[in-house]
Amino acid sequence: MPILPIVTYNDPILRKETRPVEENSDELQKLIANMFQTMYNSNGVGLAAPQIGKSIQLFVMDTDEVTKEKDDEDDTGPMVFINPKIISRSGDKYKMEEGCLSIPEVRDEVSRPEVIKISYLDKNFEEQTQSFKGWQSRVIQHEYDHLNGVLFIDYLSAFRRRLHKSLLKKIDNGRLETEYPVKPKNLMKSG
Ligand code: NI
Repeated sequence: MPILPIVTYNDPILRKETRPVEENSDELQKLIANMFQTMYNSNGVGLAAPQIGKSIQLFVMDTDEVTKEKDDEDDTGPMVFINPKIISRSGDKYKMEEGCLSIPEVRDEVSRPEVIKISYLDKNFEEQTQSFKGWQSRVIQHEYDHLNGVLFIDYLSAFRRRLHKSLLKKIDNGRLETEYPVKPKNLMKSG
């Protein structure tokens, strides 16, 4: 399965509204498999379709790597969210450091509510409604934003964003080395 290049934050596709997935197909299943492969290759815990250049309502998630030492009951394994809708957000807002495969090396704290309830189609195109907290809730909210053209840096104050300015410029110019393939092409870290 091919590893897909990840588009970086200056790409207009990351700002577009996505369209719903209309039907299940071999093509869709292949895309999902490739997205998991791409996500694991870059050590990510979530990946949204716009990040690999597809403007559709789809994201994948696997947080087991980060949750396994903390709370086993949170382990869900790989999950697929097609045409998701967050129905409710609840609980206290809290800050947590986030990053994004489309914005390599930039990390900062974002405040989001603790619990979400979401309805979506799973990998088999079956309707699900589920509540999530902790890591999963955090990743889902981040990936869900991608489907609406929102990036985590949008939540930062002008001051915080200025701190990342030189890094963002480097990404923009394709001068930032990454451990995984990105688009536009840039330097790949060797080894
Ligand atoms: Ni992201």
